[in-house]
Amino acid sequence: MEIIHLSAECYPVAKVGGLGDVVGALPKYQCQAGHYAKVVMPAHSTKFMYENDWQNDYESDIYMGGKHWHYIVLKEKTQKLGFDLYCILIDGLTNRTKVYDHDDTERYLAFQIAALDWMSQWQHAPDVLHCHDHHTALVPFMIQHCRQFRNLSRVKTVFTIHNGQYQGWFSWNNVHNLPAFMDWSAGLLDWGDMINPMSSAVRCADAVTTVSWSYMYELMESAVGLESLFRHEAHKCYGVLNGIDTQVWNPATDKYLAHHYSTADVEAGKAKHKQEVCEIFGLNPTNPLIVFIGRLVGEKGADLLPHAIGRALYETQGRVNYLVLGSGADSVENELSTLKMFSQGVYNCFIGYNEGLSHRLYAAADYILMPSRVEPCGLNQMYALRYGTIPMVRSTGGLKDTVIDYGDSGGYGIRFNQASIEDIVMSTHRALNLYHQVDTFQAIRKHIMEIDNSWESSQNRYMDIYKSL
Ligand code: ADP
Ligand code: GLC
Repeated sequence: MEIIHLSAECYPVAKVGGLGDVVGALPKYQCQAGHYAKVVMPAHSTKFMYENDWQNDYESDIYMGGKHWHYIVLKEKTQKLGFDLYCILIDGLTNRTKVYDHDDTERYLAFQIAALDWMSQWQHAPDVLHCHDHHTALVPFMIQHCRQFRNLSRVKTVFTIHNGQYQGWFSWNNVHNLPAFMDWSAGLLDWGDMINPMSSAVRCADAVTTVSWSYMYELMESAVGLESLFRHEAHKCYGVLNGIDTQVWNPATDKYLAHHYSTADVEAGKAKHKQEVCEIFGLNPTNPLIVFIGRLVGEKGADLLPHAIGRALYETQGRVNYLVLGSGADSVENELSTLKMFSQGVYNCFIGYNEGLSHRLYAAADYILMPSRVEPCGLNQMYALRYGTIPMVRSTGGLKDTVIDYGDSGGYGIRFNQASIEDIVMSTHRALNLYHQVDTFQAIRKHIMEIDNSWESSQNRYMDIYKSL
């Protein structure tokens, strides 16, 4: 089967969050399973683009918004990522260091039109166009309703929602940017008097998936206005839990780790990492180490962290360490930095994005905190499990589907119901308690490292869906 993934991100070419990890891994495992998966993405000006060799595969012009744009399809020469990678360069639109910017409507529309323009020149049609998030959500509509792409009209489309909060809305005043389409189909673009790419993909794609079952149910209840649409299209909506790339995320081989470890020597291995991290960040290595890694935004509950951590440290009388790695809202960044002045020795933060440090923290930590308000899947908790780090998560979306509370049968994590300061503090008490039940704590660590969240298992679900189309 030939599957084309269209996406804004793909690790290690460009990554802002979990979308990058998924699109960097799923095609590799599909190829390993004997399929022919490729990734087509914009040519962002990232380090990866400069450090690798590219061949010019195709070039042409598209017409958008009363203007001609030249595009070049660059192919990475060595199949370095385990699949064919194509980056589309549109001078002035894609070649920026930022993956997301202020004029994304125009940039990603041009990317989608260029990708379809190129594919419609092929001698053959691929089996599946797999579109990820709203940046590629107009593809199903365009191949069915724009004459320009009629060669592709029979290709099956799958639309995967990684984040339903962002739908890519834009005003009908900008409809002239779209390629000409049949008038009668305009209704398929509209939602609430706006052009809504996500709503159009939910209607036009042959199958709609999101990255956990629980999040699919949540979308039917609350989806920034699209909930009735999800209920109406429920017959073609599926939850497919993400996997993790166990070749990248493996404490026994991780290229970012100075000390490798596996289940057999997890205690000694993690102790070395914890010692080092505590030294670097001035923390107390005899305390449990709780980390937060992620975007400092409301969806992740990051605004709760400064007060919740302050109160947890006060109530436990400094018997836990908290360490935060993240970047995002200025107000949260500032509050987290200020907290350092009042909690030296048991709290620190690193404001910024640092891939290598994130790996070291998964290895060093005893617990990872995820108080998310919304979490379609969440990869952090799955990385944490593989590194023997116990997740403390709010019961929502994918967190609910991947973490069982240690108080329940077969459980190994800490779950709480509310994204609130009180629930984070209460979970901190539970984490401290569990840490001192040494035998149970160590048994849980060994157990969680063996849980199979790999793509080897999850990619089959996508194959079943493609085949059913
Ligand atoms: P989301 O995609 O919503 O941000 P996920 O849990 O799916 O959430 O994925 C987040 C990914 O981004 C993980 O690989 C995590 O380690 C990484 N990440 C988030 N923030 C940072 C940061 N500041 N530094 C390094 N890695 C980060
Ligand atoms: C989104 C979601 C996250 C998910 C990731 C990959 O960014 O917020 O929960 O894990 O996509 O699917």
